[in-house]
Amino acid sequence: MNRGIQKIFAQVPRTYELINHILTLGMDIVCRRKAAKIAVSGGGNRWLDLCSGTGEMAANLARLSQNGTTVYAADFSQPMISMAKKKPEAEKIRFVITDVGALPFQDNSFDALTISFATRNINTSRENLIACLKEFNRVLKAGGRFVNLETSQPKSKILRKLMHLYVKVAVKPIGGTISGSKAGYAYLSQTVPRFYPAEAFAEIIRTAGFAPVEYRRLFFGIIAIHVGHKKAGN
Ligand SMILES: C[S@@+](CC[C@H](N)C(=O)[O-])C[C@H]1O[C@@H](n2cnc3c(N)ncnc32)[C@H](O)[C@@H]1O
Repeated sequence: MNRGIQKIFAQVPRTYELINHILTLGMDIVCRRKAAKIAVSGGGNRWLDLCSGTGEMAANLARLSQNGTTVYAADFSQPMISMAKKKPEAEKIRFVITDVGALPFQDNSFDALTISFATRNINTSRENLIACLKEFNRVLKAGGRFVNLETSQPKSKILRKLMHLYVKVAVKPIGGTISGSKAGYAYLSQTVPRFYPAEAFAEIIRTAGFAPVEYRRLFFGIIAIHVGHKKAGN
C-alpha cells in the first residue's frame, strides 16, 4: 500500500472533478464516455472500475448497464470513494476499498475492467505497474477486455513540449490553488511527463499477459485508450 499516494488523494476529493474538467476543457468527460462504451461493448454482466476515485468512470458503466449487470468500483482512498457514493448512479455500484495491486476477487471473475487517469499513479516503478497489470489480468475472464484511459505522449515533439509546459504552468498552480493541496498537484503534474508513449505502454500491457493489445490516440495523442484482451486458457 502506497501511503504517500493515499495521503494525496485524501486532500483533493472535494474539488477533484471540477479541476479536471477545467484543466482538460471537458476532454476527460468525453474520453471516459468513449472508454466506457468500448469496455462494455464486449458484453458480460460483471464490470469493474479500478482506481475509481470519485466514481466518474463507474457511473458511466452504471449508466450503460442493464438489469442483471453488477458494476464494482475499487479504490484504496476512503475520501475519494465517499465522494463517489454521493452520485445518483452509486446505488447501482458496489464499492470496494482495496489496493488494486491485491484485489479481493477470484480469478476470472470480470467481463470488463476499466481504469481511467490512474495508471500513472500505480506506475511507481515499471515492476509495480506490470505486477498490477498482471493482477488485473488474473481477475479478468478469458475473452474479457481491459480498457485503460490515460494521458499519453503526443508523437509531435513540439506538441509534447507544449503539453508538458501546460502541465507545469497551469495544472500544478491552478490545481494546487483550487484544491488547496499544492503537494497533491505537484505530485500529479509530475506523473504526466513521466508516463509512457502509447506504443511503449502497449508493450507493457502485453508483457503483463494481455493479447492482443490495441490502442487509439485521442486529442493529438495527449490521451490514449488501450484495450488489452485476455487470452483463452490464461
Ligand atoms: C487520479 S485519480 C483517478 C480517479 C478516476 N479513475 C478518474 O477517472 O478520475 C487516481 C485514483 O487512484 C487511486 N489509487 C492510486 N493508487 C491506488 C492503488 N494502488 N490501489 C487503489 N487505488 C489507488 C487513488 O486513490 C485515486 O482515487
